[in-house]
Amino acid sequence: MSQSDIHKKNAASRAVEFIRDGMTVGLGSGSTAHLAVQMIAQKVDDGLNIQAVSSSKETTQLAEERGIKISDYQIIDHLDVNIDGADEVDNHYNLIKGGGGALLREKINARFAHTNVIVVDPTKMVQQLGHFPLPVEVNPFGHQQLKRFIEQQYGINAFIRSRGDEYFITDNGNYIIDCNFTIIDNPQQLENELLGIPGLIETGLFINLTHILVIGQEADATVIDLRSKVKPS
Ligand code: A5P
Repeated sequence: MSQSDIHKKNAASRAVEFIRDGMTVGLGSGSTAHLAVQMIAQKVDDGLNIQAVSSSKETTQLAEERGIKISDYQIIDHLDVNIDGADEVDNHYNLIKGGGGALLREKINARFAHTNVIVVDPTKMVQQLGHFPLPVEVNPFGHQQLKRFIEQQYGINAFIRSRGDEYFITDNGNYIIDCNFTIIDNPQQLENELLGIPGLIETGLFINLTHILVIGQEADATVIDLRSKVKPS
């Protein structure tokens, strides 16, 4: 197992400790969150009783293969704990997410979870967000206009995400534009501006949404509890 895999595994292992019997749990996407899904599946196998919702079709498939029943999002009335990964975490614990393209559903889970637990390896920690291209989910209608607008507005390069010869299509039937900001000086301002663009559905900026950050290390993980700092919204 690579060092990075060990870090991810140790982060996932500490994160699943937040789950208690009877809880409704959000399952994130990406390799680190998927390690948590596998650990949760083991606990379910051992008798843990939870209701689970998923952030992507890929996660649903993994969870169901491992014996976790995924509930329809519309029937749950609350979300106790959400466990998800991140592509970057800045020194205010804001995130870039969406490397896997699941940012819209991930953000819904993050926003409505009572406790949002983010699991990362140390390579995800940065001073400022932006080196990782910021994914934004856009309606396919007008996507080229949107890409050009973002490029001109911010003087950056942006790319419509593809898979082989085709555009990548999100679970919601949309496209992703990856925006090479390099440095994001004011994430909240950028978030407000981007969400004001017609056709832009959601951004991968997760601001003030991290309650618990778990950074996997070689032998264990560092758990940072931000619940008293995150402003109630
Ligand atoms: C999925 O859309 C992303 O937000 C993931 O949470 C993110 O890309 C982290 O993935 P890894 O844990 O695989 O790095």
